[in-house]
Amino acid sequence: MLADTGSTNDDARAWAAEGAPHGACVIADTQSKGRGRHGRSWSSPSGDSLAISIVVRPSVSPAHLPLLSLVAGLAARAAVARRVPTAGVKWPNDIVLVEADGSLRKIAGILIEASLAGSRVEHAIVGIGINVARREFPDELAPIATSLARAGASDLDRASLAIELLSLLDEELAAFERAPRAIAARLREHDALCGRAVLLDGDSRGVADGIDESGRLRVRTADGVVLANAGEVRLDRGGAGT
Ligand code: BTN
Repeated sequence: MLADTGSTNDDARAWAAEGAPHGACVIADTQSKGRGRHGRSWSSPSGDSLAISIVVRPSVSPAHLPLLSLVAGLAARAAVARRVPTAGVKWPNDIVLVEADGSLRKIAGILIEASLAGSRVEHAIVGIGINVARREFPDELAPIATSLARAGASDLDRASLAIELLSLLDEELAAFERAPRAIAARLREHDALCGRAVLLDGDSRGVADGIDESGRLRVRTADGVVLANAGEVRLDRGGAGT
């Protein structure tokens, strides 16, 4: 484990460009420039979180790459669920805990950065951040974030969490390579967004109704079912089931 780095995703990407093999991973105690999706920052205070980036070289078509965050999500969910059973995947890239009142709190996030070579996937970096021992969050995150410690998990050992995560990711990637489109079915029982009110771009409302075989979210609206890509949907926290 590195003591300190900018972003483990950047380190893994540089290593991949130098030929790092499938499965090579970078883990850091803390990151000064941890990144989330949509250019957001990701905070990993020392001792509090698992920040890990894995180089993967899956034998799948680039068309299936949008499914990779769900593949990683299933692995991260399973690792978290061994410690807190109410863990689910919140499409497209979050691991959440379902609270007693039904609300969702984010415990982990996934950032995939892929590199293509012509019509093949050269490599992808699977970056995963899990809130482990963290108890304090900034005001804007406090109502919607949590950690293993806050959820009462007794095992907060980051090394064993990382080892289990790598092994689970290996299994999920093997299943993904065998049948990429089957990921939607595998996700069904762990889909924390299903049945919840969501807002679509343009501010129309709907209810999440599972994931299609290409990794898009099915949303039931007054006008019928809409298929939404990542970035086009957000949870309607004012709506039913949030
Ligand atoms: C998100 O929820 O937006 C994704 C967060 C991903 C954070 C992880 S921590 C390890 C890796 N390194 C980074 O800079 N980001 C990812």
